[in-house]
Amino acid sequence: SLNDKDKATVKSFWAKAAGKVDDLGADALTRMFTVYPQTKTYFAHWKDVGPNSPQVLKHGKVVMAGVAEAVDKMDDLTGGLLTLSELHAFTLRVDPSNFKILAHCIMVVFALSFPNDFTPEVHVSMDKFIQAVARALSEKVS
Ligand code: HEM
Repeated sequence: SLNDKDKATVKSFWAKAAGKVDDLGADALTRMFTVYPQTKTYFAHWKDVGPNSPQVLKHGKVVMAGVAEAVDKMDDLTGGLLTLSELHAFTLRVDPSNFKILAHCIMVVFALSFPNDFTPEVHVSMDKFIQAVARALSEKVS
């Protein structure tokens, strides 16, 4: 789990990334749809899941707002993300394996977008954090 150093590292990296996260969300979704096409089935009601479609751009912001909320609620992710977890489990019926997939895509776009800031130390803490978010979100499903 996240120790104090991880939490501080996540907060300072997030502070740097915050201004760019809207674009990053859309990039992460586009990677998820491209690399793991089975994930597109959950978005079958969208008009267009292609790169830079209005729905991908909009939902990229929504997902990153969820990650921002998780940064705020880092000390209690299970409680803090409970509503979002229930939505994904009971309403959207997302299979738990998919959260690791999106978490991975988010890590890739962080690394690509911040090559200098994304040191191995930042990588370790961000990986722990994003995996903890993925776990909290898939809590209700398993
Ligand atoms: C909706 C966040 C992972 C599928 C949402 C919403 C948020 C969110 C904030 C909007 C909730 C609302 O309307 O109140 C996240 C975060 C994730 C994640 C932070 C992990 C880091 C996933 C995964 C899938 C998924 C892995 C499926 C592959 C959906 C779908 C919607 C949704 C289908 C509804 C989209 C729509 O019709 O507008 N998510 N999500 N989510 N999420 Fe996720």
